[in-house]
Amino acid sequence: MEQTYVMIKPDAVQRGLIGEIILRIERKGLKIKAMRMNVMDKTIAMEHYSEHSEKPFFNSLIEYVTSGPSVSMVVEGKNAISIMRSINGATNPVNALPGTIRGDFAVETGRNIVHASDSLEAAKREISIHFKNSEIIEYKKVDEAWLYE
Ligand code: RTP
Ligand code: MG
Repeated sequence: MEQTYVMIKPDAVQRGLIGEIILRIERKGLKIKAMRMNVMDKTIAMEHYSEHSEKPFFNSLIEYVTSGPSVSMVVEGKNAISIMRSINGATNPVNALPGTIRGDFAVETGRNIVHASDSLEAAKREISIHFKNSEIIEYKKVDEAWLYE
């Protein structure tokens, strides 16, 4: 089954949106296999967002995601990567449709409250940056027989 890395960014934690975001992930039928709250280490954040290291917004992005506690998760399901990107909505909340997390709760790209991996390769890379294998929990959920045919 496909896995993706999801971060509830520090602005969402400060705004009391952890539950709201997790609710949407669970309600969709995706399975949370690892979860932790911490203040992300700067080195880890720079590695996580290394694809953006030459961008003008890189420094402010690193400041933002390390500015306070965030919640990191491994989320699993069939097509979990693209489903999570759809749940989050467009990067710029101006373009994010109502019904998406960013469409419903954010107004600006630099404070867009959630992250999710954008490809299989990125998901593998990001999961290995943020979690040890032993932190990813294998378990069966009772709804699985009703989510997948
Ligand atoms: P993310 O990686 O956080 O899930 O977001 P994304 O794939 O939708 O967008 P990406 O292009 O990877 O950008 C990463 C994060 O950098 C911040 N950003 N700021 N000020 C700007 O022009 C700008 N552009 C991007 C956002 O927090 C974005 O989510
Ligand atoms: Mg991205």
